[in-house]
Amino acid sequence: MKATITVLSGDGIGPEVTGAAVSLLEVIAARHGHQFTFHEAPFGGAAIDGHGDPFPKETIRRCESADAVLLGAVGGPKWTDPKAAVRPEQGLLRLRKHFELFANLRPVKAYPALAAFAPLRADLLEGVDILFVRELTGGIYFGARQEQGDGATAWDTMEYSVHEVERVAHVAFRAAQKRNHRLTSVDKANVLATSRLWQRTVERMAGDYPDVKLDHMLVDAFAMQVLRTPARYDVVVTENMFGDILTDESAVLAGSLGMLPSASLGKGTFGVYEPIHGSAPDIAGQGIANPTGTILSAAMLLRFSLNLDEEAQNLERAVDMAIAEGARTRDVASTGALALSTSEFTAAVKAHL
Ligand code: NAD
Ligand code: IPM
Ligand code: MN
Repeated sequence: MKATITVLSGDGIGPEVTGAAVSLLEVIAARHGHQFTFHEAPFGGAAIDGHGDPFPKETIRRCESADAVLLGAVGGPKWTDPKAAVRPEQGLLRLRKHFELFANLRPVKAYPALAAFAPLRADLLEGVDILFVRELTGGIYFGARQEQGDGATAWDTMEYSVHEVERVAHVAFRAAQKRNHRLTSVDKANVLATSRLWQRTVERMAGDYPDVKLDHMLVDAFAMQVLRTPARYDVVVTENMFGDILTDESAVLAGSLGMLPSASLGKGTFGVYEPIHGSAPDIAGQGIANPTGTILSAAMLLRFSLNLDEEAQNLERAVDMAIAEGARTRDVASTGALALSTSEFTAAVKAHL
């Protein structure tokens, strides 16, 4: 098949990890007789520097004409001036909103081979396989906000409509039907009005999915339980900001933030695929970033936007095998052990394709 993929590498380690994923997608294309065309476009801090805008018109057009977008990360110390009118992260939020990508799938798996490295007891990690479904285009990220001129007060607003909750919850229920038939909806209904609407809506929908066992948890308790008994969870659905925080937390289960991929989807097959981590300014430019999250995001791209499930599985299996045989970037290597560079790790994955 022919497919067009727009690559927004962004800032910091962004170009290092997207470079790794693109090189593997090229191998997949060659092996399976596909024709993938990649177009790079400026995004984030790099685009602010070059175009004064983190999501320039040209980049929007490049994304609109693509089948999918592969994204690295945005942001960095160069663009964190709190008084700046434009920030790299705004580009990311505009991208998600522009394409109404309301469902952000963030799978979290524990790797047996990395269990010794994760800071949790190995027995707790057995069988950990959670799919977070994070609402991505609503809530406090997109509500009105203001920083008062005097600097003495500021406010943000969080708003959800029944429609916004329904469409993301449908994605979560359907995912649970294809997995282990359990769905946990996480909210803060003991305090927030939006959470009460969230809970009521999800609860009402449960009748349409009699084969899914639904429960509700408060976010503070969930944040503790997900590390205490992580294997208990199957699909977890939650609002935008809770999902942001809980998935970084859950990266501990996978051994490193660098391991986790994501797919941001809307109504059609178009999607944006990115690791959940940021631009990691502390290690940028050193060639030591873990590209696993981005490589697994590329696998999700193959599966969800291009409908190439076999190719996606091949890529995922190659990552599993490389890790199982001991390939380790520095973030998941024990102290003193020899760690691979980003490109060495990518070559180890390639060897299994
Ligand atoms: P971060 O995720 O960039 O880094 C947190 C820690 O994890 C750092 O120690 C980093 O070295 C490590 N890390 C992250 N990814 C790694 C990888 N692939 N391999 C090895 N180690 C990795 O979070 P931060 O430092 O809080 O944020 C830095 C910048 O990134 C900020 O400007 C933030 O807004 C931005 N950010 C962007 C995205 C995105 O583009 N989707 C996501 C999160 C943060
Ligand atoms: C993520 C990031 C973004 C978010 C930031 C950079 C806006 O943390 O993709 O998880 O909060 O959604
Ligand atoms: Mn985040």
